[in-house]
Amino acid sequence: MTSSLTNLSSGLAAAWHPVLFASDLAHTSVRIDLLGEPWVITRLRGSITAFIDKCPHRNARLSDGMVVGDTLQCPYHGWRFDGSGHCTLIPALGDGATVPPTAQLTSAHVVERYGLIWIAPQTPVTEIIEIPEWDDESLHKVWMPAIDINATAAQFIDNFLDFGHFPFVHAGTFGSGEDANIGDYNVDKTDSGWGFVVDYPHTIANKEDPLVATGQHPLVQPRNMVYTFQAPFSANLRLELPLTGVVNAIATFCQPMTASTTRLYTVMMRSDGATAEAAQAALQYEYSVLQEDLAVIEHLYDNQIALGVGQAHSRADRSTVEFRRILARLLEH
Ligand code: FES
Ligand SMILES: [Fe+2]
Repeated sequence: MTSSLTNLSSGLAAAWHPVLFASDLAHTSVRIDLLGEPWVITRLRGSITAFIDKCPHRNARLSDGMVVGDTLQCPYHGWRFDGSGHCTLIPALGDGATVPPTAQLTSAHVVERYGLIWIAPQTPVTEIIEIPEWDDESLHKVWMPAIDINATAAQFIDNFLDFGHFPFVHAGTFGSGEDANIGDYNVDKTDSGWGFVVDYPHTIANKEDPLVATGQHPLVQPRNMVYTFQAPFSANLRLELPLTGVVNAIATFCQPMTASTTRLYTVMMRSDGATAEAAQAALQYEYSVLQEDLAVIEHLYDNQIALGVGQAHSRADRSTVEFRRILARLLEH
């Protein structure tokens, strides 16, 4: 049994990972890091391709090369590679020369979803997360810029799915009114088995509701909190306040880059984000919340998460224990 999960765990290759905003791939090739390897993302003939960013000739960075016609040209000796990674030209040998079979790039599966380019180095066994709020036109989407953190994707998602830390880590933002006591909740696996949903209705002190001051609404109000997780490192949190009709969802997708660094793509989908000011305020607020989380998770002792023994769990940790079970299955797959 695989005992720990890192950003470099080999089983993660058989899954989709976000690597770039699609809008950042206009005319150039872009170098990205995934699972400790450099990749070059390029548009060739209108299709997006992902290749290991090492020329099989002398290991030059293909991402430093250029697109010539429908090929990617290496910057070192000008070898050209087509959309399937075949070398079509070795200039030193001239047109029509035989190309060695080893002159082949390693490619990944590629799709575009939620405005992001996702790649899977090996045939993916999991689907990309479903986010119903993305298609809900009554919700306004506000993207945070991509943010690089010094922690692993697993450590970040472990934190995202954990609601026992709110009163402690988030005392400076939303956590001060939260009850430290976590009631019973269920973790419902999705049909594929690669994800789960946690529905946690509870009450909070809603200090942002103007109708509390007028006596029309009670201060303590019901709130529905629904977490959706999909392996390996995507999650969505939907918060709904039935009394005020406020809906606020936040989806996060992680790109495990190197052993110790992860890039986060985060989109908020809000019923109250219609104006530029509201969007800006939501961004600022979310950024403050993230800083509170990073103060803890960037200081965790190991760049790994124990999947078997090695960590103590409580009944309140059901969701993050299920997260570990699902990832253990992915790594053993
Ligand atoms: S290193 Fe790429 S063509 Fe020589
Ligand atoms: Fe948090």
